[in-house]
Amino acid sequence: MPGSNQMVLIAAVLSLWTIIPGQTYKFVDLSHVQNYTTLYWPGVPSFKRETVAKGSNENGVWIDVGAFSSGEHGGTHIDVPRHFIPDGRDLKDFPLERTVADGVVIDCVAEASQNPDYSVTRQKIEQWEEQHGRIPDEAAVLFRFGYAEHFWEPEKYLGTKQVDNASTYHFPSVSLEAATWLLNSRNLKMIGFDVPSPDPPTDFTYPVHRLLLPRDIMIMENVNVVPSLPPRDFRLHASPIKIENGTGVQTRIYAMLYERQNGGSSALSSNLLVLSFVFLPIVTAVVNMVSL
Ligand SMILES: *[C@@H]1O[C@H](CO)[C@@H](O)[C@H](O)[C@H]1NC(C)=O
Ligand SMILES: *[C@@H]1O[C@H](CO)[C@@H](O)[C@H](O)[C@H]1NC(C)=O
Ligand SMILES: *[C@@H]1O[C@H](CO)[C@@H](O)[C@H](O)[C@H]1NC(C)=O
Ligand SMILES: [Zn+2]
Repeated sequence: MPGSNQMVLIAAVLSLWTIIPGQTYKFVDLSHVQNYTTLYWPGVPSFKRETVAKGSNENGVWIDVGAFSSGEHGGTHIDVPRHFIPDGRDLKDFPLERTVADGVVIDCVAEASQNPDYSVTRQKIEQWEEQHGRIPDEAAVLFRFGYAEHFWEPEKYLGTKQVDNASTYHFPSVSLEAATWLLNSRNLKMIGFDVPSPDPPTDFTYPVHRLLLPRDIMIMENVNVVPSLPPRDFRLHASPIKIENGTGVQTRIYAMLYERQNGGSSALSSNLLVLSFVFLPIVTAVVNMVSL
């Protein structure tokens, strides 16, 4: 029966097709939840959500619609130039290509645990490069201070008992020297950290914001920089919605890890192995049957 042999051949080819995926990725979520206890800077309206309609309509169809409101700078969010520059780009005009980059994580947990006012130095970044290699040009550079784990404990996260008084805050930051070096020597594209700001909380001249935002460097604040993120070799995504005049907004920030990272052989090469040892002989046999 040539007909059924052809069917077997087609089935074999189809099954082959489905086991050869493209590049595969592991997704790592770097955003905190938005809910009623999400941290917002004092004076900035916090997150609220209400139900607009919820129930069955006249045709018995269930529909649920909510509405939310919040300030632009709370929880895991990004800053765009308009935040500090009167004619700077707003969310509507911020270029999409500046929202995705090769990522690196500079681990400063040891320093930050010793000193809540720790400020990342250029030397710290150079030490990281000695260990992990050169930071790629146009990278998204994340700093991990070990604060993400305390995001839901405001006194700990903000380093104060007076969480409503920003002048009392203590958390680590990035020095102007380090930020300038990343900008000039590594063509920095995006910067993020697991604290509310790159500037020290008591410096109300905001030197790092004012250095980076005019150059269209996206600043990512309160990022959930989880310990499982590797020091390099992932893509970082932080693409905000297009709000006209928007100065910043809550953003789903996430990393895509290339699967070859997590072991010796890639998904593709192991599939090629399956291909050559299991499926090719089957296909050959079927083809021989068909040609009989
Ligand atoms: C908000 O979400 C966090 C993390 O899931 C949780 O710990 C907290 O209790 C939530 N807050 C409220 C008001 O439900
Ligand atoms: C906030 O903290 C600063 C520094 O400790 C203090 O000088 C100021 O009086 C405080 N403001 C309020 C409203 O408590
Ligand atoms: C943005 O700003 C312009 C100029 O002030 C104003 O005309 C426009 O209505 C604003 N749009 C929004 C969504 O705020
Ligand atoms: Zn912000």
